[in-house]
Amino acid sequence: MFQQLDRLNPDAILGLMTKFRADPYARKVDLGVGVFRDLSGNTPILDCVRRAEQTVLESQTTKSYVSAAGREEFNAAVEELVLGAEHSARRERRARTVQAPGGCGALRVGAELIRAAAPSTTVHVSDPTWGNHLPLLGSSGLRLDRYPYYDAAAHQLRFEAMLERLDRAAAGDVVLVHACCHNPSGADLNLNQWRTLTELLLRRRLVPFLDLAYQGFAADLDADVAGVRLVAESVPEVLIATSYSKNLGLYRERVGALIVISENESRAEAVRSHVLQIARSIYSMPPDHGAAIAACIFADSALRSSWIKELAAMRERIQSMRVLLARHLRTAIGDESFDFIESQRGMFSLLGVPAAVVDRLRERHHIYMTSDSRMNLAGIMPDNAAYVAAAVAAERTVLAA
Ligand code: LMR
Repeated sequence: MFQQLDRLNPDAILGLMTKFRADPYARKVDLGVGVFRDLSGNTPILDCVRRAEQTVLESQTTKSYVSAAGREEFNAAVEELVLGAEHSARRERRARTVQAPGGCGALRVGAELIRAAAPSTTVHVSDPTWGNHLPLLGSSGLRLDRYPYYDAAAHQLRFEAMLERLDRAAAGDVVLVHACCHNPSGADLNLNQWRTLTELLLRRRLVPFLDLAYQGFAADLDADVAGVRLVAESVPEVLIATSYSKNLGLYRERVGALIVISENESRAEAVRSHVLQIARSIYSMPPDHGAAIAACIFADSALRSSWIKELAAMRERIQSMRVLLARHLRTAIGDESFDFIESQRGMFSLLGVPAAVVDRLRERHHIYMTSDSRMNLAGIMPDNAAYVAAAVAAERTVLAA
């Protein structure tokens, strides 16, 4: 049977992670996989996580099953963190939240839900988007299409083109939107653009699927979901995939949730029953350990305020590296063409250079980024920013010559 299977290429992001690990060069620079790094290059366990984990271990009395929906106190806290305590969808009991195995699990369950409800739906994803969006959503059998979002060479959002394309989408189609810290571009919609988008979604009867993997990495926990809350205030049906890989650093624990908002309470109950059946048919139940830690942090005011401080420190470190890299690039290149890096948000920016330059940066300078020239700014350190900038300046010129 397996003779039918040809060997596949590794996943673009995970394959790069393996290549980086295998490179023995001492000054290698990892701007690849999206994990936070501190000044020593480590991806630390947050202090609030260590403390909460201790509490979880000490208080846990069983490893028996939880449920297909995961931990209810986690789900309730997630819903409040994303929508806010007073959100109309919650007041009207139209929101249902189910724990999932990471943001990826939430996206996949969401895609399966859409397919169960309306199999001929097209999901429109941004161009560019995170490399794993296409397999995650596409494997459910849904048709995918792309809307223009960001011009990597011009370093600009393509908002007008995005609206123009979505205006031609069929009623009932789904639009996947990055809630904040767009991956890979770092270019987000401002609040006015969210308003305009909301009007379009309503007018064209499109269903937003909001991917929220970086809450707290742009400005703060509340500001980063302003767009999400706005959309969920007026659009009757909304899906939201959340992840706690980045903002709690729980990457390998696979902590996420799917929030689905429906038109009314009875629809919401029906939707929940389908979500649970989908979960049961794929993985039965989400892993508990990470969600138990997250729930403990969300519920305990001391742990929560420690989290908010640690989250701010991660955000500020990345932001300061944006400033530093842009400054070194300005010096190395002699103009301001890379200043956009400074004003973008979250972990990533697209350098906006051809894949051939990306290859040379890796092969000649041991600087690793995905072939679309996405850089994880958390891989920039005070002692490698000048090196990276000089390498970019050199390779750009070589290629242009
Ligand atoms: C990334 O975009 O690099 C991260 O979200 C890790 C992943 O799973 O791709």
